Amino acid sequence: MKLVLVLALALLGAVSARQLHEGTPEQEVPAEQGEEEPGEPEPPCPMESESFRMIVPGQGGHTCRYVFVNNCQPFWTAQRLCARCYHGHLASIHNYATNQRLRCTARARTNRGQVWIGGYTSRWHRCLRSHWIDHSLWNYSNWASGNPSHASQMCVALCTTGGRWRSVNCQARLPFICAY
Ligand SMILES: *[C@@H]1O[C@H](CO)[C@@H](O)[C@H](O)[C@H]1NC(C)=O
Repeated sequence: MKLVLVLALALLGAVSARQLHEGTPEQEVPAEQGEEEPGEPEPPCPMESESFRMIVPGQGGHTCRYVFVNNCQPFWTAQRLCARCYHGHLASIHNYATNQRLRCTARARTNRGQVWIGGYTSRWHRCLRSHWIDHSLWNYSNWASGNPSHASQMCVALCTTGGRWRSVNCQARLPFICAY
């Protein structure tokens, strides 16, 4: 009995590994990160005049550093800028206090009403899954009603007025928040 179970699990593992490998349309991996702007050169790092840094002292000596970039980019380009220019990633949000803090600063420092944060959703058959780009736990969300969208691959934007989150096409150009 136990052996059968082990075999079944091993088989399941092999099947899902193969599906991921073969790239089925509904696979649960982010869109190819270099794909969205064919032929367009990578933008230079944001200028100081269009970026605002914020340092948030946390508990236990853990400090969070953010950059609010008021330069509109598609989601994956924004993520690459966070990595290349600040050695960070698009910001993940794990509680209401952080959501409020980022919302307020984003409202003051950016001008589009929405900013990219580091979340994206993907669909696995009929199930929608949400992820943070830094692989941290998805243990808080603040979706606007009707969100997240059930489209196959969407990225998460924070609305700077209400602080709610919306599914936005990842190719849309928005200001963004990096954490580093
Ligand atoms: C949520 O996840 C983050 C990052 O993994 C962690 O720091 C935080 O303590 C978690 N919060 C709760 C309420 O579990």
